[in-house]
Amino acid sequence: MRVTVAPSILAGDLIDLRSSVVQIRESGARWLHIDVMDGYFVPNLAFGPQMVRALANCKGDLFFDIHLMVDHPEYFVEKFAEAGADLISIHVESRCDIASMLRAIRSFGKQAGLAVNPETAVEAIFPHLDSVDLALVMGVHPGFCGQKFVKSSLEKIKIIRRNNTAIKIEVDGGVHLGNARLCVQSGADVLVVGTSFFRASDQQEFIKQIEYE
Ligand code: DX5
Ligand code: ZN
Repeated sequence: MRVTVAPSILAGDLIDLRSSVVQIRESGARWLHIDVMDGYFVPNLAFGPQMVRALANCKGDLFFDIHLMVDHPEYFVEKFAEAGADLISIHVESRCDIASMLRAIRSFGKQAGLAVNPETAVEAIFPHLDSVDLALVMGVHPGFCGQKFVKSSLEKIKIIRRNNTAIKIEVDGGVHLGNARLCVQSGADVLVVGTSFFRASDQQEFIKQIEYE
């Protein structure tokens, strides 16, 4: 099965983002994952709508996968939709009316995703599965690249897949060539890769290998 691979720009060369986008394009990956952090939901800050708009100028055919790690997605969803998002994921732990926020994302003509943190029971997203295009299972505690994969995330992926065969399941954080197959066998079909992608000596080869795990 060919899975979708979404390199995460947060792990790229932050002083030369254009070349990071070009690397992702040239690797053969079809998606680009952009992390948005507000300093409250996670203890870190990253990428605003203006940055996404700028990156969109050099994205070619890449699908923009925006991951909002923010307490109040209602302040940001429309701005990221306008900035060039193709899919916007919010967190089930965020402080908003989840159902209406997912409707809002779709009302802007974008795909909607719902993310779940390692410490949250996966059942929290079940009431919303019919309203999303993608479930995002965090493989690490959100906020930083380069962390170790939390193994219990695999069980979450399996439980979602058993309950729903229609949506995409994305796994984000700590994914590399050594655990991608386990993620895919558990039911994931979108793999976010940050550190492992940018550290690969041959990124085209890396994408080819991980796509067919
Ligand atoms: C973590 C972010 C991830 C991160 C992945 O909070 O949501 O998207 O960029 O980086 P790696 O693959 O290095 O764990
Ligand atoms: Zn992410």
